[in-house]
Amino acid sequence: MALEILLAVLLLILVMLVVMTYYLRAVKLRKDEEEEEGKEVEKEKESVLSAQNFVYTSIVLVAVGMVVTLYVMLRGTVWEGHLMEWMNLIVRLMHITFGIAWIGASFYFVFLENALNRTKDVRDELAGNLWAVHGGGFYYLEKYKIAPQKIPKHLHWFKYEAYFTWLSGFCLLFVVYYFNASALLIDKNVLDISPLQGIGIGVGSFITAYIIYALMCKSPLAKTKWLFTLTGILVCVGFAFFYSHVFSARAAYIHFGAMLGSIMAANVFFVIIPSQKAMVNAAKEGKPLNPQLGKNAGLRSLHNNYFTLPVLFVMISNHFPSTFGNDNPWLVLMVITLGTAGVKHYLNIKEKGQLSVWVMPVSIVILLGAAFITAPEKPGACNSEVGFDEVNAIVQKRCVSCHSAKPTDDVYTSAPNGIMYDTPEQILAKKDMIMQRVVVTKTMPQNNKTNITQKERDKIRCWIEQGARLK
Ligand code: HEC
Repeated sequence: MALEILLAVLLLILVMLVVMTYYLRAVKLRKDEEEEEGKEVEKEKESVLSAQNFVYTSIVLVAVGMVVTLYVMLRGTVWEGHLMEWMNLIVRLMHITFGIAWIGASFYFVFLENALNRTKDVRDELAGNLWAVHGGGFYYLEKYKIAPQKIPKHLHWFKYEAYFTWLSGFCLLFVVYYFNASALLIDKNVLDISPLQGIGIGVGSFITAYIIYALMCKSPLAKTKWLFTLTGILVCVGFAFFYSHVFSARAAYIHFGAMLGSIMAANVFFVIIPSQKAMVNAAKEGKPLNPQLGKNAGLRSLHNNYFTLPVLFVMISNHFPSTFGNDNPWLVLMVITLGTAGVKHYLNIKEKGQLSVWVMPVSIVILLGAAFITAPEKPGACNSEVGFDEVNAIVQKRCVSCHSAKPTDDVYTSAPNGIMYDTPEQILAKKDMIMQRVVVTKTMPQNNKTNITQKERDKIRCWIEQGARLK
């Protein structure tokens, strides 16, 4: 009962806060009008802005409080799984949306920088310009060499895309991997650690990675491009190797992507935005600009650009068991990371109008190499006929603890992905998926929780190859 009351109180506060946002918006509009009329309202506008920030932050905190209350209320009931599924859905949708906005803006500005016309009809104070047509309109953009004489009042900043992508990604990591650590994060065949240790290692690794990277950027290494790149690749190999020897293979992949994503967001938060702020302030005060600021921000922004394709691959990697299901998941991960970063490099130099003959072919060969090393081995011969009874016995022993209308597993209380093997027909209907997950990629049973043997995998394969008959 106490929880219901708490939930009702939080809901009431939420409604009041939402009403406040409308009120504050009306106040802000009035202040904008007064400013147009020439009144001095700078101070008042600032306090409205901080009130708005306070209200928005409170809304987020109250919403989180409501979800936590709801979770405590529903824990152990049939609705717990449902709540988690909807949390997953909502947070994932937010993560994808913010991520597209962030990476889209990043791609666009790197393209703009690369494609600028820097020679024809460029005013002295400009670095270049670009004509573009999009969505039925013509656009003309100019880039300043340093900064305009007077910093315009309405200056758009690109930062919330990055922050919200990171925040939603971090929440998703909790919803999918950390709340369910014993099932998805930890694989006892890899390393037997407790959920709390796993979460600590995961979160700690992101901080460590950023510190290593930031030190690299400040060290003399940063002066020699190829040496910096090589060291960066070696550090990545180290992290990929480490993650795949600590976490389950899927979690290892996601942590590698989250590690790169965290560096990207930290670059925006700790270097790019502060440099830009310092530049704007210096320009406002008419002080000379420190060109190093722009250079630092530009370098981090370029690194972020190279991280994008590897991160995007990792984010979809969970759908591809042949990648993380490999015996050396870290090697596959590194090969794909290199290949996709190579493709991005090609796109960057192409936008600059430079012709490169080898970057794209080499990247494609690297990616084909990944397809090659993940190919399944040639299957051994099936010497005798395998009957359905044998296969059914294996499935009942190794799979049905999870894949059943009434699972007995300690984590999965409903059949994962709706897949059930209670009847022969259900097994037959899913035989191709079984082949893929149990024989080819060996990603089922999950983390081999039920200890299936290679012999049993071979039996299942032979039964399917011999025509999957139900007799
Ligand atoms: C510990 C619980 C568990 C056991 C045991 C288990 N699975 Fe799964 N299975 C899952 C989970 C969780 C998923 C969903 C996530 C995924 O696709 O990896 C899944 C997904 C699958 C899928 C993919 C479904 C899809 O929609 O893509 C197949 C096929 C599958 N399992 C087959 C099997 C077979 C066959 C066995 C026995 C040899 C088995 N599983 C044993 C937990 C389990």
